[in-house]
Amino acid sequence: MSAGHPNERDYVASALRAGLFTKVVGKRVVHLATTGSTMDDARRLAEEGAQDGTVVVSDAQTGGRGRFGRRWVSPPDNLYLSVLLRPDAAAAQYVSVAACVAVVRAIRRTAGLVPRVKWPNDVLLRGKKVSGLLVESVLGESGTGYSIVGIGVNVELDPSATPEIAAIATSLRAEAAKPPLRSGLLRALLHELDALYDDLRRGSSPVPEWKLHLDTLGKQVDVRWGDEVHTGIAEDVDERGALVLRRADGTAVLLPAGEVTLHRV
Ligand code: BTN
Repeated sequence: MSAGHPNERDYVASALRAGLFTKVVGKRVVHLATTGSTMDDARRLAEEGAQDGTVVVSDAQTGGRGRFGRRWVSPPDNLYLSVLLRPDAAAAQYVSVAACVAVVRAIRRTAGLVPRVKWPNDVLLRGKKVSGLLVESVLGESGTGYSIVGIGVNVELDPSATPEIAAIATSLRAEAAKPPLRSGLLRALLHELDALYDDLRRGSSPVPEWKLHLDTLGKQVDVRWGDEVHTGIAEDVDERGALVLRRADGTAVLLPAGEVTLHRV
C-alpha cells in the first residue's frame, strides 16, 4: 500500500463506516479481493434479483473490460466498481451521462481537480484519461430490465508501467498535489451517483451539467459507432446527450451517447 495512506487497505469498509446515508446506491455493497470483471459479478447479482443500487467493488480485476471490448488495466490500488441500477425506461437513457457527472463531481470534491469529459464519458485530466465508464443494459419487460454501470478510476496507477496506455492514461496520483484516499473517493462517488439517480427518477436531466464539462465540442473527431467510423466536427449534443456531428459535406449525423445493449442469456 502506498506510503501516507495507511488506512487504504480497508477503503471499502472505511467508505461505509458511519453510514452512507444514500437512498438507493450502496445500500448493499459487495467487496471482492479480486475478480474477473465486476461487470459480470453485478450482472449475476442482477439476474438473481439483487436490489436497485447494489454495488460490487473489487481491489483488482483479471479481465477488466472497457468500451468496444478493450481491456481495462486493473492492478491493485485503483478503484473498480459496478453499480446495478433498475431505472425505468425514461431514466435508463440518461444513466451513462449521470454516472459521468458523478465521477466528475467526486474527483472535484476529493482531489480538487477539474476534469473534462471526452464525449460520451471518458473523464480526462490534462487531456489524459483518469476514469472510464462502461454501461451495459439488459432490456426487459416493464421493470425487469437493468443497467450495470461500471466505473474505473486510476487512483495510484503509474501509466508508464503499462506501454499500451502510457501515452493516453493518467491517475490522480500523477495529477493531484494531494491524491485522495480511495475511501473518500468511493464514498463521494456513491453519494453523487445516488443524488443524480434520485434526480433522474424525478425527471431532472444530468445533460446540462455534463455538457458544461465536455471537451469535445467544436473539435474535429472520429466517432466509432457500431461498425462505422464517422468523421466531422462535434457541433453540439442534443437533450439526450447524442452528439451532432457535422460532416465535411455539410450533412449532420446524430450519434447516441448510449452504450452496449446485451441480450439476456
Ligand atoms: C472505458 O473507458 O472503456 C470503460 C472502462 C470501464 C472500466 C470499469 S472498471 C469496473 C468495471 N469492470 C470492468 O470490467 N469494467 C468496468
